[in-house]
Amino acid sequence: MTDSRVKVICVDGPSGSGKGTLARNLAEKLGYWYLDSGALYRIVAVVAKQRDIALDDVEGLAKLAGNIRALFKGDKVFHEGKDLSPEIRLETTAEMASRIAAYPEVREALEGTQRAYAEEPGLIADGRDMGTQIFPDAPLKIFLTASAEERALRRMKQLNELAEKNGEVDGQTGDNQLKNKDLNHFKSSDSLRALVKDIQARDERDRNRETSPLRPAEDAVEIDCTSMSIDEVLDQVLLLWNKSGEVASEV
Ligand code: DC
Repeated sequence: MTDSRVKVICVDGPSGSGKGTLARNLAEKLGYWYLDSGALYRIVAVVAKQRDIALDDVEGLAKLAGNIRALFKGDKVFHEGKDLSPEIRLETTAEMASRIAAYPEVREALEGTQRAYAEEPGLIADGRDMGTQIFPDAPLKIFLTASAEERALRRMKQLNELAEKNGEVDGQTGDNQLKNKDLNHFKSSDSLRALVKDIQARDERDRNRETSPLRPAEDAVEIDCTSMSIDEVLDQVLLLWNKSGEVASEV
């Protein structure tokens, strides 16, 4: 179970709410560890695809999930020495991860791995069920939301940046072709509408699954950041952290 001596701040919320950016900034500001739990589900999706484990092979997926040992270095994610950072951020991966995350067996297999990230001096845990299931004793739980349209806009910006980073070159082969197909899909004229629809469908699945559905913990502070800048959200959370009495002198 959770080591209650280690300070944990949970940042939960739907895709694209900005919780990843908020959580990373918090971790940097406080000098805490950072757990991107969504990345673990995404890694399971990427590795399952590489190993031809079918999306309905629950046993195979749970076994794989139990053996995931991810290494987070800056904004890169490694598994078994391989940099999976570009693949895990694709929309196709997000879609697979959302399906895989609905299996209780997979969620259970990842519980211990997630709790093991709670180390001194503290942890910022980013996900959907950090406050409700993984770290229920955490002294501060944030539930970050934003409208689906705003989240789609932010996601589009992110995908465009990713496309620029990867270089959009015709005639690429293998994985790169797949990446560019995925990225270009969201650059057509109806791309924003398509992205809003995809986000809403994933929200729906995350909120309505039986095991650990996406919902705020009873003691979570809900912040709607549709019209807030990331700095405003960060300031608000740091204020809450100071007020919580957990840390007097760190911020
Ligand atoms: O936060 P993200 O978009 O990287 O998450 C990818 C998928 O994993 C998303 O569909 C929800 C799921 N997920 C989850 O069920 N529980 C978590 N703690 C984190 C993510």
